[in-house]
Amino acid sequence: MFFILYVSKASEQCSDVEIADILRTSRKNNSANGVTGILVYKKPEFFQFLEGPEESVTALYEKIKNDTRHELIKTISQGETDDRIFPNWEMGFAGEGDLLPLQWKWDLDKLTLFSLAENMDDSMEVIRAFIDHQPLDKNSPHT
Ligand SMILES: Cc1cc2nc3c(=O)[nH]c(=O)nc-3n(C[C@H](O)[C@H](O)[C@H](O)COP(=O)(O)O)c2cc1C
Repeated sequence: MFFILYVSKASEQCSDVEIADILRTSRKNNSANGVTGILVYKKPEFFQFLEGPEESVTALYEKIKNDTRHELIKTISQGETDDRIFPNWEMGFAGEGDLLPLQWKWDLDKLTLFSLAENMDDSMEVIRAFIDHQPLDKNSPHT
């Protein structure tokens, strides 16, 4: 099992409609490829955690890096892992409202995801905060 965590900036044409489209495609492809994870969107930044078989995750990351709907893609952490964090999520989605419960700890209205990404442990703690948050599994931006 392999994981990749990265941060990126949504490009200007990447609207909520585009994000809903990304999630539809992701949930279809990821279930076919054994990939699970979560996409966090704090306008205009993305934070994504991908996990699954190494070839699936690395091939997907190559595709994602070439996607013009975002830029400034920066890998925070990657490597082997024993267990999945999100075994049941083909791609969970956390938008602005879903970040509110984390606000007390991370001061997320002042903090950018890029600055959070400077610290790998903090980044993983934010990702882990979404474990068992079941509604995010079919969640999408409200379009
Ligand atoms: C921020 C972001 C996250 C993405 N996450 C995934 C993903 O988890 N799975 C996926 O298949 N595609 C994801 N994509 C879309 C891919 O870049 C690519 O468009 C898609 O996989 C192509 O699918 P297709 O070959 O079925 O057309 C993501 C794109 C962006 C911009």
